[in-house]
Order: sequence, then C-alpha cells, then structure tokens
Amino acid sequence: MRTPAAMLALLMLCSCERGMHDMYDQPRYGADAPSPLFSDGSAARSPPPGTQAYSAGALVQTTSGRWRDRASGARPPITLALLQRGHQRYDVYCAPCHGLAGDGDGIVAQRGFPTPPSYHQDRLRDAPDAYFYGVISDGYGVMYPYGDRLPTSDRWAVVAYVRALQTSRRVHADRLDARDRASLDHGGARP
Ligand code: HEC
Repeated sequence: MRTPAAMLALLMLCSCERGMHDMYDQPRYGADAPSPLFSDGSAARSPPPGTQAYSAGALVQTTSGRWRDRASGARPPITLALLQRGHQRYDVYCAPCHGLAGDGDGIVAQRGFPTPPSYHQDRLRDAPDAYFYGVISDGYGVMYPYGDRLPTSDRWAVVAYVRALQTSRRVHADRLDARDRASLDHGGARP
C-alpha cells in the first residue's frame, strides 16, 4: 500500500516542478517585436504625453538629479514652521524604521529589517548637519536614499527635526515651561 502512495506523491511533485518551470520561462516580447494586442501593432509602448525624464523637469531637485544639487540647495533658516514640516516628513519617511523618537525601533525594524542605529549616541550627536543631509540624499549601507522623495528644503527640515529629537534627551527639566514639565509626569502626554 505504501509504495503506490509514495509514487503518487512523487508524481505530483514532478508536475509541480514542471509548473514552476513554466512560470520561470514565460513568453515575452523582444524590444521592437510586433504585437496584435495594441492598436499600433507594436509591443513597445511609448511614454504617455507629459512624461518627464527622471532627472529633468520637476524632479531635478531630487536625488535623481543629485549630481547637480549635491549637498547644495540653500539651507532654509530654522523656524517653527520648518521644524513642524520636518516633524511631519520624519514621521512619514524615517519613523517607520528609526522610530518616532529616533531610537531605531520603528515598526519595519521590529518586523525584521536591519535595526538602524539610535540617533541618541555620541557619534551621531557629534556628526555635522551636512552628514545627515548626505545620508538622506544618498542613503547609507542598507538604508536606501530618500532624495527622490524629499526635495532639498525637506531634507533640511528633517535634519532640523532629528537635531530637535537629539536635543530633547538632553534638556534639563528646569528649562521646560510649566505645561511641558507637567507632561513629563504624564508619560509625555500633555495634561
Ligand atoms: C527602511 C528603513 C529606513 C528608513 C525608512 C530610514 N532609514 Fe535611516 N537607516 C536605516 C538603517 C537600517 C540604517 C543603518 C544602515 C547600515 O548601517 O547599513 C540607517 C542609518 C541611518 C543613519 C546613520 C548613519 C550612520 O552613520 O550610522 C542616519 C543618520 C539615518 N539613517 C537617517 C535617516 C533619515 C533622516 C531617514 C528619513 C528621511 C531615514 N534614515 C529613513 C533604515 C532606514
């Protein structure tokens, strides 16, 4: 009884292998092959009207054009509005890995992506602003670049916010106003 069952299993495995093989070798079109699928009879598609080259037009300020704006982009003055913008962009683009407070414990890291370093260590406290700007623009190790999502002014806004996060761990409670001081006793929630 056992032999036929084992043979059946083997047979099923074989067909499974074959099925996988078929999926690896799928039919595809060569570069300029004809195709009956499209009205112009060609498999090659032309870009929709208004398409812009990755490194031109509106995207020129981003990493795509980074050889042009490398570490440039006049640095905006640090204002409350800039910090708020940086906070918002940081929460969108950095917090998923670096964590909302920069401890390197974001949800993506918790789910298995390599753990980023905490910003709250001397090496990164002492690093110049331009270093952070560079990491955002070009990436670092396994962290990919964010320049294509953050125009230069937003990169500086994020740098300013990362600086604020770093500073927040080192401000003496005496320097806080009464409301902020009271929030310390409520686990950071404003009373
Ligand atoms: C997909 C996860 C991910 C995102 C999103 C991300 N990072 Fe990172 N980041 C990492 C990892 C992982 C490292 C460590 C890379 C390594 O050592 O190879 C890192 C390293 C860094 C470092 C430290 C470089 C050093 O010298 O150790 C800085 C600064 C940094 N990231 C800033 C940012 C900022 C700012 C953003 C948002 C614009 C951001 N990262 C978004 C994963 C991420």
